[in-house]
Order: sequence, then C-alpha cells, then structure tokens
Amino acid sequence: MRQALPMAEGPVAVESWYDSDIDHVIITEEQIRDRITELAKQVAADYASVDRLLLVCVLKGAVMFMADFARALGRCGTPVELEFMAISSYGQGATSSGVVRILKDLDRDIAGRQVIVVEDIVDSGLTLSWLLKYLESRSPGSVEVVALFRKPDAVKVPVPVRYVGFDIASEFVVGYGLDFAERYREMPYVGVLKPEVYTRSLP
Ligand code: IMP
Repeated sequence: MRQALPMAEGPVAVESWYDSDIDHVIITEEQIRDRITELAKQVAADYASVDRLLLVCVLKGAVMFMADFARALGRCGTPVELEFMAISSYGQGATSSGVVRILKDLDRDIAGRQVIVVEDIVDSGLTLSWLLKYLESRSPGSVEVVALFRKPDAVKVPVPVRYVGFDIASEFVVGYGLDFAERYREMPYVGVLKPEVYTRSLP
C-alpha cells in the first residue's frame, strides 16, 4: 500500500537542472503569473458579451501560456474552448522565413467564431502573419492575437497583436514554453542561456 508523503511546509526552493545553464533571468515566474492575470482581466472585459471564446494555441511554445491563460480567463468567469495548431516555419537557424507548413490543423470549423490566437513570442512576425491569413481564410467572426512576449523586430512586419504580455530585448530566450533544441520548455521563468551552453550543444 502507498504511504502518504509528508507535506512540505510552504514553498521549497529547489535548484533545478536548468538553473545553472541560465546566464540571467529576464522575467520571473511571479511576473509571468501577474501579467497573465492582467491580460485575462482585459480580455474578459473586452469579450464580456461573447458566448464561448475560442483560444487557438500555436504548439509547442505557447502551451504553458495557453494553460495558464485559459485558467486565468476561467477565474474571470469567461468560458473558453481550446484548439491547438502545430506549424513549422522553414528558416535559417533561429530565423524564420515566413514559409510555413501545417503539422496539425484545427479540429473544428471556426466560421463565425470569436478567435484569439495564443502565441508565445513574436519575433519577426512572419509566422504569425502567415497564420492570421490562414485563419482569416476560414471565415471566423473575428481574430485577435495575445502574445506573451514581443521582440522589437516584430515591428518590421505589420502584425496586429492586440494583447502583449512583455516587450523584451532582441535576444534569444528560453523557458515557459520557449526552447533551445527542445530543452528548457519546462522552466517556470524566462532567461538567457550562458554562451557555453551553445558551444556545448555543437556536434
Ligand atoms: P517569427 O516568425 O520570427 O515571429 O518567429 C516566431 C517563433 O519563433 C516563435 O513562435 C518561437 O517558436 C520562435 N522564437 C522566436 N524567438 C525565440 C526565442 O527567443 N526563444 C525561443 N523561440 C523563439
């Protein structure tokens, strides 16, 4: 029979495997949590008259944000439905080209629905610009975007991002869904990797 584990007294600070790979933290776990609550309040107020808001998450980077944002909207009394898309962007290394392939499409018709695209980060904006055109072709009632992070380069492609969590500097960040070679997505905060991590990862 299973033994009950003793309960820890309050939060326990445990060093995780990824902490030593981080050069500096950009946004803390608490800042992310507080900002998501603010964004949800704003969206809940703007969509107060909408019956069922449809959130479209772009996998994999936005998965943490989607989960926390949907629950924050729930706490604001806004009912939501969740849809997931996976797309791959052809590009040179970390730069996206805007040429996109759909790996997983929407499971349902979005015609006439009020849609919010839940994005992790807008960098050049090329991926999002393609996605918005694609969604518009499916005749939704409306489409808006909420992006947790936005980099300054995003202004180069005019993509209408109605809700932005944080404007950050133009450097490569990991954590809270954002990866480097599929790692660091589970970090609860966002940070910049130490330079040696990249050298270590070279073949
Ligand atoms: P864009 O088409 O240049 O806007 O690229 C957007 C996508 O690139 C995001 O959805 C992320 O998956 C990825 N990306 C952009 N910047 C970063 C970063 O700093 N860390 C991790 N992934 C990033």
